[in-house]
Amino acid sequence: MTSTNNFLAGKAALVTGGGAGLGRSIALHYAKAGAKVVVADLDDEGGAETVRQISDAGGEALFQHTDVSSDSDARALVAKVQSAYGKLDIACNNAGVAPPATPMADIDDKLWRRIMSINLDGVFYGIRAQIPALIDNGGGLIVNIASILGQVGFPGMAPYVATKHAVVGLTKQVAVDYADKGVRAIAVGPAFIKTGMEDNLDPKSREALESAHPIGRMGEPEEVGSVVAMVSAPNWTFVNGAYLPIDGGYLSR
Ligand SMILES: NC(=O)c1ccc[n+]([C@@H]2O[C@H](COP(=O)([O-])OP(=O)(O)OC[C@H]3O[C@@H](n4cnc5c(N)ncnc54)[C@H](O)[C@@H]3O)[C@@H](O)[C@H]2O)c1
Repeated sequence: MTSTNNFLAGKAALVTGGGAGLGRSIALHYAKAGAKVVVADLDDEGGAETVRQISDAGGEALFQHTDVSSDSDARALVAKVQSAYGKLDIACNNAGVAPPATPMADIDDKLWRRIMSINLDGVFYGIRAQIPALIDNGGGLIVNIASILGQVGFPGMAPYVATKHAVVGLTKQVAVDYADKGVRAIAVGPAFIKTGMEDNLDPKSREALESAHPIGRMGEPEEVGSVVAMVSAPNWTFVNGAYLPIDGGYLSR
């Protein structure tokens, strides 16, 4: 029997972008709940630090250098989880980047393609590689980290908003195409979370951003990581294709 704190015991998980921010918190919470975790990131040092934190806390993890915008890296990542831990139960497609705020008419092709390749191609390559492994496993879960900007627009953020809406769409599509094979997908939509980016905001912009959340503040990575671990619990069997905001009420206004 597993304790309530050990609700992912025996599970094998991967987290892309696990070397910092939300991905690190998700990986730590997966491990804390008993999962073995492959941390994937472009940043080797950040990834190694996440693995170290998991090991120090008594969990099990390893790092795989991964560029999510590469199809071969996405496949190699899945192969790594299978060779290390024998299977894949949970895949969290978290890696993503935000562009500098730019009015839509001024966005050049290079910026547009960069955001598409990481935030959208990256999630698609991930899902495409993960589905056969999850089916081989008799089923499993894909958690895609979208954003509140997968539901609404935001000034200057066209490529980001477009990719995050698309990630919500891909999540629904997994449910439609693979529910009968035991594969489920959930998208989560964080609002603004303190992962370091906000350090550069001037006090006025920071205050405006904070007050856009009815709770009156930005979120902490911990408030995303803990919820992502919970929605990855195996007893969420009837939840599929859902979008869950983690947003301090941002989308409720
Ligand atoms: N922080 C927020 O306020 C916020 C809000 C909503 C959604 N999100 C989403 O959450 C996810 C994580 O964001 P974060 O704030 O933790 O970002 P972050 O910049 O703190 O961390 C992102 C991690 O992804 C890695 N990464 C970047 N490009 C990669 C690639 N091509 N392949 C593999 N790894 C790559 C980086 O090296 C880094 O370790 C993103 O998808 C982001 O869009 C963040």
